[in-house]
Parts: sequence; structure tokens; C-alpha cells
Amino acid sequence: MSFKSPESVYAQAKNARQGLPAWTYNNAELTDLEINSVFLQSWLWAGHISELAEAGDYQCMEMANERALIIRGEDCVVRAFHNVCNHRASRVVPDDKGHCRNALVCPFHGWSYHLDGRLKNIPRAETFPVIDKSTLGLKPIECELWHGMIFIRFFGSGPSIAETFKEAEAEISLYKIEDMQPINEPWTMKFNCDWKSIVDIDSEGYHVPMGHKDYYDLVGRSYKDQVLNDKVSRSYGDIDAGKHKSQLNQDYVDTLPKESYLPPSHQRQWIYWSTFPGFVITLFPDQIEIYHSYPIGFQKSAMAGRSYALADERPKMKSAREFNRQINIMVGEEDMQLVKWSAEGMRSSAFNGAIMSDLEMGTCAFHNQLRRTLPVTSLDVPPSAGTLTQTNQQMVEAD
Ligand code: FES
Ligand SMILES: [Fe+2]
Repeated sequence: MSFKSPESVYAQAKNARQGLPAWTYNNAELTDLEINSVFLQSWLWAGHISELAEAGDYQCMEMANERALIIRGEDCVVRAFHNVCNHRASRVVPDDKGHCRNALVCPFHGWSYHLDGRLKNIPRAETFPVIDKSTLGLKPIECELWHGMIFIRFFGSGPSIAETFKEAEAEISLYKIEDMQPINEPWTMKFNCDWKSIVDIDSEGYHVPMGHKDYYDLVGRSYKDQVLNDKVSRSYGDIDAGKHKSQLNQDYVDTLPKESYLPPSHQRQWIYWSTFPGFVITLFPDQIEIYHSYPIGFQKSAMAGRSYALADERPKMKSAREFNRQINIMVGEEDMQLVKWSAEGMRSSAFNGAIMSDLEMGTCAFHNQLRRTLPVTSLDVPPSAGTLTQTNQQMVEAD
């Protein structure tokens, strides 16, 4: 793998070391455009194959006004559909996750659908004008399985997730992710700030020595961000072989057993693969964690994820997984505080733009990709109210 130099990442935009202009973190029209033109047109992580183990198992996912239903069919294929009934738009399953036996039955008037989305039955069908049932199946959403991880894309086109992560393929394959099971409940952290403030901090390790002292004690000395391209980055830290100041770290290191399927290079390494706009897969020797960050609305964002692991009954592995969990909860809480402070300051009149080091090039790569997708984010001042989408479109066409 060849990674980008900081110079080449920062050379891609004017004033790139200042970061995105402050207004882009505080503009409702831009948030709407980001939801519609970035998130709804990107691959979004939607779970793991183990969560849909049986035919008829389903789970739902929402992004802005769009709602998805992901379900395993009787042929065992996992598919995604808009969770919108063709009769009068109700969701077609009542719960966010569950199991249906051989049909999806809309809770409003009882239209039913086969597990592969075809319309099955309309109650009192004779009371409707002539209906062609074959045209009224649930509307499909693009769905991709990659190493057991489920991704959906509401709209748009472009490379598959497998293609996006092709450079990660060899490393990801080591972990047998498709055979893993969840080891905790899904978690969500809510933030009262723009989503980019979360991805910004998550894309650089410069803050690790100061912001995560215990984490630094564990993997921080060797921690490094590697930018593959503006859409994909890798970060890693090797677990320090010396004595640890934090008892929790020491307990984790002392307990962590060998994983038979990992090469020596990966027995003591924490690795993070990420892709634009906000997806991260974390590879620990004892488990993995998948999460993503996304906007919920203006100044409202979330980060949500879940951890998975292979079945392993060794008591030492169980303990190591628990120590790992505690370490990462602490890191998450520290990041939450730092995101809050940074986001608040960026809304202040005193903020004149960032000054970014080579160690923050991952954040710049994220900005570069956003500038490329939405060129309006490179303007120093926001377009006048009501014209942002149009201005962006003009910039796309002029490019
Ligand atoms: S809205 Fe689904 S059956 Fe009426
Ligand atoms: Fe952090």
C-alpha cells in the first residue's frame, strides 16, 4: 500500500491547513445538502449478517426522511427496500428489528409483501380499480455485503464498498468478520453540533497524547494516520510492550491471549479503516468495532456502532474483551468532550480558521473529499440565504 504525504494532501485545496470555513459547521442549508447529496448517496453501514441469521429476520434504518428495511429472504439473500407501503406509505413492519414468518404485513391496512419485496396480497382487492400487482413491490435499495457487513445506498452510484476498500482487502480478510457475532448491544452517542466536528476529530491522531492520556499509554507512542486517498484512510497503533501507567491498560495487555488466525504483526495492533463520509471499522486482536457518524439535522449528529467477535470461550479472552470495552468507553467520552469544546469555539466570532499540522492530514483528506463532493464548502463566506444548493450546482457544472 502506498500512502499520501501530508504535502500532497494539503496541496489539493487552497488554504487547506485552515480547514473548512467556520460557516460550513453552522449552516442549516448546507446540512440539508450534505444529508441529501452526501449521506443519501453514499454507502451507509446497516448492520452485520449475524443480525439477520434466519430467513425473515429484518432490521430497519433511517436517514433523514428515508427509511430502509433490510431483510433476509427465503432464498437467504439479504435485500434492502424502502420501508414504505405502496398503499398509503406506512412502514411495512412495526418494529425496528424482528422476524416475520413468510410475509411482511403492513400494519395499516394489511397489504402483504413476499420476503423478496413482491406484493403478495391486497385485502378486499375487489374494491380497488384494476391493479397490476407486479408493479407494486417494495422499492429496492442498493445493498452490498462485504465481509459480513451490510451496507446500503439509498441513491446515487459509484464504486462498491469492496472496490472502495480494495486496498484493505488483505488485512480485513484476516479477521473472519463474516463469522463474527455481536458482543454488545448497538450504541448511539448524540451530539449537539455539526457532524463534521465528529469526523474531524476522528480523522487525526494529533490529539491523542493530550486528549487520551490512557489510550496514549497503551498504543499512542506508535499511533499513526495513513491517508490512502481522500476517501479511505488507515490508522494504527501498536500496543506498547513496556509497563503501563494505567492499571486498566496493564490488565488488558497481561490478559490478551494470542489469536491463532492473526499473523504476529497483528497480534498486538489496533487498526482503524475509515471511509468518507463517516464509516469506521476498528480491528482489535480480540474483537472488532464498527461505527459511523452522521447528521440527524441542523446542529444535531450521532455516532452509532456495535462490537463483534468470534466465538471464544477462553476466560482470558473474555476478560481482555471487557478491558478493551472499558478503555474504548473512556476514549469515546473524552472525544465527546473534545468535539463539544471544538464545535462550540468554531461558532464563536473569535475563530478565524484552524492551523493544521502534518499530523492532521487525515482531517484534511476528509475536507478534500467534501470539497470535491460539495464545492460550495470551499467558499470563504456562505452563499446568501436560499441559494446554497443552486450555488453548489453552478460550481459543480463549472468544474
Ligand atoms: S398503508 Fe400499507 S396497507 Fe395501507
Ligand atoms: Fe479521539
